[in-house]
Amino acid sequence: MRVLVIGGDGYCGWATALHLSNRGHEVGIFDSLVRRHWDAQLCVDTLTPIAPIQTRLQRWKDLTGKEIDLFVGDLNDYPYLEKALLQFQPDAVVHFGEQRSAPFSMIDREHAVLTQANNVIGNLNLLYALRDHFPDCHLVKLGTMGEYGTPNIDIEEGYITIEHNGRKDTLPYPKQPGSFYHLSKVHDSHNIHFACKIWGLRATDLNQGVVYGVLTEETGMDELLINRLDYDGVFGTALNRFCIQAAVGHPLTVYGNGSQTRAFLDIRDTVRCIEIAVSNPANSGEFRVFNQFTEMFSVNDLAKQVQQAGSTLGVKVEVKNLENPRVEAEDHYFNAKNTSLLDLGLEPHYLSDSLLDSLLNFATKYKGRVDQSQILPKVKWRR
Ligand SMILES: NC(=O)c1ccc[n+]([C@@H]2O[C@H](COP(=O)([O-])OP(=O)(O)OC[C@H]3O[C@@H](n4cnc5c(N)ncnc54)[C@H](O)[C@@H]3O)[C@@H](O)[C@H]2O)c1
Repeated sequence: MRVLVIGGDGYCGWATALHLSNRGHEVGIFDSLVRRHWDAQLCVDTLTPIAPIQTRLQRWKDLTGKEIDLFVGDLNDYPYLEKALLQFQPDAVVHFGEQRSAPFSMIDREHAVLTQANNVIGNLNLLYALRDHFPDCHLVKLGTMGEYGTPNIDIEEGYITIEHNGRKDTLPYPKQPGSFYHLSKVHDSHNIHFACKIWGLRATDLNQGVVYGVLTEETGMDELLINRLDYDGVFGTALNRFCIQAAVGHPLTVYGNGSQTRAFLDIRDTVRCIEIAVSNPANSGEFRVFNQFTEMFSVNDLAKQVQQAGSTLGVKVEVKNLENPRVEAEDHYFNAKNTSLLDLGLEPHYLSDSLLDSLLNFATKYKGRVDQSQILPKVKWRR
């Protein structure tokens, strides 16, 4: 298939583009490279030294003989988006190309507006471009498990059947997101659902858990293909961040009492889930929702696992509970369904000591690049 990966220079997108290319798909990357610009603005950097996108793609071609087309442009530049789509002629579009940090969206008004304008309008542009030029193309859109919040009932995959006053209906699952970033994803989901209904587009919304790990079969082939690994207080996510903190001897930064429970998956499963979604398209007019994660952990569980993995490597790891900069429930129920991707053939990589060891070893290898002043959270949710 011809698959355009929007956001293909980012953490999930880069690994996915290479994986799909390796599996024989014709792949294109569409990315404005704005994430590299935001890093520079905030004076943060990936732990791993990522090469410029052109160098990455040339190395991939030299190693495998496979060419990945590159479109450097912004989803919010509609004429360029149309031009790129018409040139590439996609059968599927995988959309990772958004501002994806909750703390970034909570810095101030400008960052909240930037996040929602970039994400919601970019996604809306894509929907119109698909409607006008590729109505049969399958949209695979990255959402997040954070869209659901932490309801006191089981989280279903996108829809819930409710009986009310003697009548019954299957409705979109209620969303209670916890940041302006997560809200942008909810708005995207609504827009895509509506576009499927009125124009007959086909879409899969992947509510992805927090991704951890850095190596995939493809990104591990060569140093120039290395993926980004964020550890700073704005873009770094749990577990990746903890491993890097452990490597530099910084106490693990557990927010609040650490009972917050979330859904997680290995980056090797991210790329596989996308491949599964692309190979099994939604029907015309269908807005399909999958919960894309493999396991659930509390923040304390993660901290304990990193401590244990550290001790097997002779690294002493301390844990520090910080005042929670976010507004979120700490002691809560969390039980989410995730059977759709398993039913389609996902064979999960579960979090194990060996993964933690390799992530810790990776973090240790590049620890000289860590700027310790970027570790603690600086963005607060409250006024
Ligand atoms: N990383 C995670 O743990 C995680 C978890 C759940 C969901 N997701 C979702 O997966 C997607 C990718 O996340 P990531 O961690 O790879 O993020 P990332 O920041 O590493 O990558 C996003 C990429 O999109 C590009 N981009 C952003 N806005 C764009 C625009 N308007 N036009 C063109 N390109 C644009 C950026 O330059 C960047 O390369 C996001 O939509 C995110 O919400 C990520």
